Amino acid sequence: MQDACLAPSLGEAYREHFLIGAAVNAHMLRDEQYQRLIRRQFTSITAENEMKPESLLDREATLALGDPIRCALRFDLADRMLSFAQACGIRVRYHTIVWHNQTPRWFFAEGWSDAPDAPLADTETVLSRQEAYILQVMEHVNRVFPGLVYCWDVVNEAVEPAQGGPDGLRTHSLWYQTTGSAFLAHAFRAARKGQAEGQLLFYNDYNSYFPEKQEAILKVLKNLQAEHLVDGMGMQTHLDIGSLDLPAFETGARAYAKMGLTLHITEMDIHCPGADEESQALLAKAYGDFFAMLLRLQREGAKIGCATLWGVTDQYTWLRFFRKQESYPLLFSGELKTKPAFDAVMDAAKAGEAAAARW
Ligand code: GLA
Repeated sequence: MQDACLAPSLGEAYREHFLIGAAVNAHMLRDEQYQRLIRRQFTSITAENEMKPESLLDREATLALGDPIRCALRFDLADRMLSFAQACGIRVRYHTIVWHNQTPRWFFAEGWSDAPDAPLADTETVLSRQEAYILQVMEHVNRVFPGLVYCWDVVNEAVEPAQGGPDGLRTHSLWYQTTGSAFLAHAFRAARKGQAEGQLLFYNDYNSYFPEKQEAILKVLKNLQAEHLVDGMGMQTHLDIGSLDLPAFETGARAYAKMGLTLHITEMDIHCPGADEESQALLAKAYGDFFAMLLRLQREGAKIGCATLWGVTDQYTWLRFFRKQESYPLLFSGELKTKPAFDAVMDAAKAGEAAAARW
């Protein structure tokens, strides 16, 4: 166990391969220790919440604008994070633009009403609002922080075959309920208009290697690709030490790579309820195997751009709330020390170099 701020850097170890990212939040950025750790270890960050629609949309100011399509946005939290990244020379994965979650209902309602039963706006209005929102966000970020964001999660989690909708699309979603499937390609078309040169557009989802779900996602991606609208697939990668199936993950990842898409691991953590030595050794083995697999895919020709962890240390992991159970799923402990899983990821990089040299 080493002090994470003094230990060798993950970002450096993988520099020749892909970016190493972490999801960070405003709370961490108020803590100097966290700032030092992030700066030392990572080459990419994702905002845990600060760039999602609910963090940007300002209803009062939107009402004051008096426009049925254009809404008012506040960028204070997002800008603080973007400024931090810029000052540290860290790049940013923008997460996320279109999502059924963490987007207030009033965005979809007639007259921006926040009454719980307010009628929803018609399809055309919602699609126009969507385009205005996307262009506004991209214009702001690219003007104030040129060159900082390297990719955008344009649509998050639009597929959920378990809900029984056509083509496996998620039906419990105000995007779907107001526009049918139209919101998907429409969002990517707007993002193509608003993107800066070199930025990649991503579709992002969880369990994206589960066969039924993957089949539906591949269909979505193929349709988008036919219009040259999508550049990458974001595999969230919320895994569980109790039900790991890395061979299945690898098969799934290969199918996306085969489409010529850039692959990002966007939200990796491995739920692990035990902090004891044995549990953490298992976790380390899983992380080591996972990163070895990414490097293997890359040697085979897959375009892997980034591996992002969902969090920085075990202290603030969302899994403790989500699972209602203890969880120690990341590479650094709450004391900001490296864990065996960190060493395993570092070792995978070294073994990867050796394999590449033999190749
Ligand atoms: C999804 C979202 C993330 C985050 C996690 C839970 O995976 O894409 O933004 O909200 O859920 O923390």
